[in-house]
Amino acid sequence: MNDRLPANFVFPRDFVWGTGTSAYQVEGAWNADGKGESIWDRFSHTPGKVASDENGDVACNQYHRFAEDIELARKLNLNAYRFSIAWPRVQPGGRGAFNEAGMDFYDRKIDALLRAGLEPYITLYHWDLPQELQDIGGWTNREVCKLFADYAAKMVERYGDRVKFWTTFNEPWCTTFLGYAWGIHAPGLKDDKAAAQVAHNLLLAHGLACIAARAAAQQAIELGIVLNLTITEPLHPQNDEDVKKAEAGWRRDCGYYLDPLLRGVYGPGVTDDIAEIEPEDLAIINQPMDYLGINYYMRSVVSNAPIPSPIDGHEYTQMGWEVYAPALRTLLTRIDKDYRDAYLPKIYVTENGAAFEDKLVDGVVDDPRRLNYLATHIEQVGLAIADGVDVQGYFAWSLLDNFEWAEGYARRFGIIYVDFESQERTVKNSGKWLAQVAAANSLQR
Ligand code: FCB
Repeated sequence: MNDRLPANFVFPRDFVWGTGTSAYQVEGAWNADGKGESIWDRFSHTPGKVASDENGDVACNQYHRFAEDIELARKLNLNAYRFSIAWPRVQPGGRGAFNEAGMDFYDRKIDALLRAGLEPYITLYHWDLPQELQDIGGWTNREVCKLFADYAAKMVERYGDRVKFWTTFNEPWCTTFLGYAWGIHAPGLKDDKAAAQVAHNLLLAHGLACIAARAAAQQAIELGIVLNLTITEPLHPQNDEDVKKAEAGWRRDCGYYLDPLLRGVYGPGVTDDIAEIEPEDLAIINQPMDYLGINYYMRSVVSNAPIPSPIDGHEYTQMGWEVYAPALRTLLTRIDKDYRDAYLPKIYVTENGAAFEDKLVDGVVDDPRRLNYLATHIEQVGLAIADGVDVQGYFAWSLLDNFEWAEGYARRFGIIYVDFESQERTVKNSGKWLAQVAAANSLQR
């Protein structure tokens, strides 16, 4: 197996080069023009929940500056732009009346993207549930799944004439574990039983939304989900116990989502923890999808022996995440191998990137470590394509430095630097480099 991509490797024709953002992380304008409160507004306004008690009230103020950001993305030679709709902006209470001013904002944003030659990839849920729906149990309540499907249908009705690519959920794992089991993200619960129900309900909501969105579409749309999947690797590959542990980790973490989504089944034991599950649920979850989005940042390492932290000689980002690019290829080829017999749609890498402590000096942000992170991971995507995996796009996380959830503004993931005081944007050196890669459709090493 080659572990370097040939220098002249060109990505497939029509390969998608984009960046990702999400509404709460960049939009700001948290209560403008009739927007309702979201669980992230409530959570970040509660002292002690977010580092330095920061919040997304203003963030990158993209609500007012989207035209500038889209122009920057265009100049970076990208051909796609992934973003999310803030549900409470378009439907303040999550049910009942829609907010015309909020919907108009996304009309204008979508039109600007299309004018700039950027294909919009919309995520319907990137974590900012209307608070009013949290008040009736949030994702533990099956009623919310149905309301999500209604909202999805409305969005497709409104924007489906211009937007082809629709993602139901971003990283349901994070909502389940960070939000409901460990209390790190909104709504900040620590309730394992609730989390087990939420894990199932999010998949159910995905299925219901796919059905509703397809029924609402006037033109052909493509539907998918974005999962944060990681590959679990043994610390000592020559140790059988470690290898077994890694295999169990893979089956548990990836299988949990891919088995029901792609095969319509849950693995052994999974349903034991789910209090409420109806006989038809798995058939609803198992909707045909047009693409699978994969967010990859780091691998997971397991061992029976203590795992050194950091692992000697390995690099870590500002988040404390290990930099280990080869695992991205392993992940992509493993999914391809394990799920080819099921219905495996095309794949996009929908997030990949790294936070480092950037400095703006004389108008320049030199970020060689991020550039290297992106370059080595894009190389692994190329290798996976050469292995035969149908990867059709790569989205760097993120277009802009933004509000990094519980970590606040101290973690910069952007390929564009944001001065949060002045809101001035500066393309980092990694961004300039990515622009060349996108233009050449090749790493040009
Ligand atoms: C992912 C999220 C995204 C961003 C990155 C760093 O889990 O989807 O919003 O915070 O991590």
